[in-house]
Amino acid sequence: MRTYIKNLKERIDKNVTIMGWVDVRRDQGKMIFFDIRDVTGRVQGVVLPNSKEALEVGSAVRSEWIVKVEGVVGKRPDNAIQKDKENGEIELNILKIEVLSKAETNPFDIKTDGKEVSEDIRLQYRYIDLKRERMNKNIRSRHNLLHFVRNFYTENDFVEIETPCITKSTPEGARDYIIPSRLYKGNFYALPQSPQQYKQLLMVGGVERYFQIAKCFRDEDTRGDRQPEFTQIDIEMSFVEQEDVMKINENLITELVKEIYPEKEIQEVPFPRLSYKEAMEKYGTDRPDLRKDKSNDNLLALCWVIDFPFFEKREDGGWTFTHNPFSAPMSKYEDNLLKKERIEDILASQYDMVLNGYEIGGGGIRNHNPKSLRSVFEIMGYEDDEIELNFGHILKAFSYGVPPHGGFAFGFDRLLMILQNEPNIREVIAFPKTGEGRDLMMDAPSRVSSNQLKDLAIKIEKKEK
Ligand code: AMO
Repeated sequence: MRTYIKNLKERIDKNVTIMGWVDVRRDQGKMIFFDIRDVTGRVQGVVLPNSKEALEVGSAVRSEWIVKVEGVVGKRPDNAIQKDKENGEIELNILKIEVLSKAETNPFDIKTDGKEVSEDIRLQYRYIDLKRERMNKNIRSRHNLLHFVRNFYTENDFVEIETPCITKSTPEGARDYIIPSRLYKGNFYALPQSPQQYKQLLMVGGVERYFQIAKCFRDEDTRGDRQPEFTQIDIEMSFVEQEDVMKINENLITELVKEIYPEKEIQEVPFPRLSYKEAMEKYGTDRPDLRKDKSNDNLLALCWVIDFPFFEKREDGGWTFTHNPFSAPMSKYEDNLLKKERIEDILASQYDMVLNGYEIGGGGIRNHNPKSLRSVFEIMGYEDDEIELNFGHILKAFSYGVPPHGGFAFGFDRLLMILQNEPNIREVIAFPKTGEGRDLMMDAPSRVSSNQLKDLAIKIEKKEK
């Protein structure tokens, strides 16, 4: 049976079998020393001169080979104890080594933080890069946070529900990724920019409290805090007001920081609130960095930005929504919206959470009045048939009874990036796309066969490299 390296110290003088990677190998001719690591830790092992067979295998073994090692756990004599080293008080007396997998030399050093290696090379060999301690920590923290988030919402009576990734293209702000349909040639699905419409339809369905760790897809230019494919912690609640939604998500962050990042300090709780107008006037941005001391890695300055204008002028002179067409107007602007008057004055019931200068989440109370929702689409210049085509399903659903509802979505990768003190979100995603939107490891996007295109009735007019 395999013993985890972390448990070896409880097995002094016992025969054990460990499995893992050769971290370092030091061949001293008559004896060979190995540092072996598995997912739980590292230990030093030694092959003594009398273990002929193990010496023979051991002399061929190289760093990063994967081995099964049998031996006896020995307590080091007092003068050989290495206090500062993991498992420094024990040593494995290796009796047998079996090579499970040989390994080429790594394309780069994995013992550093990796900042000296070109990112393209790291991403091309991501499976090796992930062995790096920094990456390993990031990926594990990601899990810890997700685990916490799942428990938090579950304990607060939310139900986790998956919504489809193959759906319909609807205007939500960014460009959609579209998927050609084979069965309905010339028709397309789209990948969701967020589960927005589905989560609202779940409220119609009587779910009342929904959450999801949701994959979202947006065909927009990639930046340090943006990926074409990213993860949201997405929630929606029925029978709530803006205050309720803000409160629960503020609680999530304060509790999460206390539990998982006790070394970090939230500058101000409750999070200060700024109207969009105040933020723009005072800081020139709607995501101000309010940290009092920017040199402190452990300071988290959270705030809410509220009272966003509902609409903004498009370049062609028409109106478009600033955040989300499904937001409700603040109650005192309901009439304006219905009458389509003083459109520029209308404020939305919309709130963003900002952390150290990054927008880490946003949400709103939704417009559950079909008449007023129709008014939003009309202000944006949609004709009746376009409203029907794009939003008919939502308006129809609402006609069967819809509770007042609102919700929120965190950009999970952004949140994690800041908590892990990383410079961009690629460092906290196991397999991210490059800044140019490529997956260098899988080599995507890539061409598909002419047969696949034929099946889809697609002709490529111009091939790019
Ligand atoms: P919004 O579009 O503001 O709202 O998205 C919510 C949060 O997701 C993060 N985010 C991104 N993270 C990484 N890469 C991207 N390309 C990217 N785009 C957005 C941001 C942002 O605050 N359905 C609504 C939420 C709601 O109203 O409930 C929505 O998607 O941190």
